[in-house]
Amino acid sequence: MENKIFYVTTPIYYVNDAPHIGHAYTTILADVLARYHRLHGIPTFFLTGTDEHGQKVQRAAEKGGMSPQQQADQTVGRFQALWRKLDITNDDFIRTTESRHVRVVQQILQTLFDNGEIYRAESDGGYCVPCERFYAGRELDAGTCRECGRALEPIRESNYFFRMSVYQAWLIGYIHEHPRFIQPDFRRNETLGFLQQPLNDLCISRPKSRLSWGIELPFDHDFVTYVWFDALVNYISAIGYLADDRKFQRWWPASYHLIGKDILTTHTVYWPTMLHAMNLPMPETIFAHGWWLIGDSKMSKSSGNVVNPIDMAERYGVDAFRYFLMAEMTLGQDCNFSEEAFIRRYNADLANDLGNLLNRVMKLVTSHCGGKIPAPTAANEGADEQQLRQSVLNVATRMEECLDQMRLDLGLAAVTSAVRETNRYLEKRQPWTLAKQPDLEPLNTVLYNAAETLRIVSGLLYPVMPAKMRELRHALGLPGSAGALRPGEGAAEPFLDQLKIWGKTVPGTPVGAMSPLFPRIQAGGASQAVGTARETAAQPQAVKEPQAIPPAGVTVVEYADFAKISLRTATILEAAKVEGADKLLRLQVQCGAEMRQIVAGIALYYKPEELVGKTVVVVANLKPAKIRGVESQGMLLAASGDNQLRLITLDGSLPSGAIVK
Ligand code: MSP
Repeated sequence: MENKIFYVTTPIYYVNDAPHIGHAYTTILADVLARYHRLHGIPTFFLTGTDEHGQKVQRAAEKGGMSPQQQADQTVGRFQALWRKLDITNDDFIRTTESRHVRVVQQILQTLFDNGEIYRAESDGGYCVPCERFYAGRELDAGTCRECGRALEPIRESNYFFRMSVYQAWLIGYIHEHPRFIQPDFRRNETLGFLQQPLNDLCISRPKSRLSWGIELPFDHDFVTYVWFDALVNYISAIGYLADDRKFQRWWPASYHLIGKDILTTHTVYWPTMLHAMNLPMPETIFAHGWWLIGDSKMSKSSGNVVNPIDMAERYGVDAFRYFLMAEMTLGQDCNFSEEAFIRRYNADLANDLGNLLNRVMKLVTSHCGGKIPAPTAANEGADEQQLRQSVLNVATRMEECLDQMRLDLGLAAVTSAVRETNRYLEKRQPWTLAKQPDLEPLNTVLYNAAETLRIVSGLLYPVMPAKMRELRHALGLPGSAGALRPGEGAAEPFLDQLKIWGKTVPGTPVGAMSPLFPRIQAGGASQAVGTARETAAQPQAVKEPQAIPPAGVTVVEYADFAKISLRTATILEAAKVEGADKLLRLQVQCGAEMRQIVAGIALYYKPEELVGKTVVVVANLKPAKIRGVESQGMLLAASGDNQLRLITLDGSLPSGAIVK
């Protein structure tokens, strides 16, 4: 976070249809990044908006029996309402039908035309309406759209072309010299691969006889502008290009254009060459994320598998939904969406870990410390306290690194692990027992430390779950609650720096009353948010009591039988999915001097990358077996219940291969 300013954009969304979670995801991601930067005291501008011209919108309007402008006016409201609902703090919302945008597009076109960058020619082409992409020359050979594979509609017409081809060599050089320009790296390679073929000039017009809904070319009134040439300009028209030079100079170039992987070429080939022709600097990073999938297919209206973000937010809460999207997807990769996965993560990270920690601290402070955060005493600070403090402070630094590398999922995993560590600390130090002793200083120290963790954790989670963290911070009597974050509500406090300092919680601060922040969602509570059906809502319910252990009827074994089983610690070195088996992961583990391969049915509960480095417990003398044709030399131990499964891991560290008994 070295930047002096932070300018982040989302794609502008087509107004032919209602928003779904694909759209919500990018906008929430931009919001989270914007909020982190604001909390860091970095001047931030966050832009989103709608793409309102083109064939797609015109056809949707015809279908709905209205004018394209009516179609746009009606649909834009759905996007804006969704952003309000999801607590999105965009600084501006641009619509491409606004005159401030139209004017800029026309001025750019005129200048490029006057400079000879745009010429007229006759051509045969093919058009893909859903992608609004025109293909000519060699690109026509396949007869199908490069983006979606659909058949192209043939067209022969006279059009205007932008001399994109002359910038091919420059663009290749620029991409090589600026490794952060296109991210992740494999997307940069994809664009470089595309640029190995000769680049065509870009057709930037449509004759009005075929499409009337667009920005008229200033030098030929019989044509409108190609929707992508119009849409990409939003990133500069919104911040005052050719209208408010001071504003433009303040924000351009953008820090991040966030996009989905399907619009990589338009952003990493068309847009840079357009900017170069205009003599403008390049955006710092164009970051392409993957898709949310349902099963194996992309969520899309035509497949009837769209997830309605409003349904999810209403059913489970806005913040939990925001958290899930950010924590679940590894940026850049595709990710499966399911309500089961949502409930699993919600119950594990939010209800069990964070909710539980807060409940414990609040209850103990209320009952044993007169409702005020107690003061710690140096004499009671031992190794456990030092370790806790170090781990929690490390997480603040880790989160910053993760944000710089766009690995928000890892940053959030680190925060959750700090919460778990604090819960373990409480279990070890047993404040409920300490409360019964005459000397309350040990209790006070333990509770102060747990409250201090909550201060830091709530600050780190604030950009992702602003309303819930505000509630939590309010309950703990934390000042400022991070300040106002909506534009116009006042300056945001640069409070992220405070999260790297231990001891900012003020002893004596009264804690407030609060109801459970994240009530557990009962098993079987998943209901449909996929498709159009709105089933009865699964409401979060009160936390269920754990089952009695051991249940009646369990077979009793002799110690001698139990002793036959060899349990050992092992470190996971590699993890990968087993092809064709949704539930299985193939693990390479180090068990003492030995390497073993274990096939484990844990793929629904762990991502491969979460496992690497974990020390687990394995049954080391199990007869090898083939599972789905893959040899498995052992078994992992795990606990399951309430639709969850958690691996048994080690409390502390020991070399792998250690005996477990
Ligand atoms: N209007 C253009 C963008 C112009 S930007 C100058 C457009 N609009 S869109 O509404 O079709 O898509 C907007 C974004 O949503 C794209 O980045 C696209 O990748 C993203 N998503 C659409 N479906 C998606 C998923 N299922 N998952 C994640 N994002 C996906 O393209």
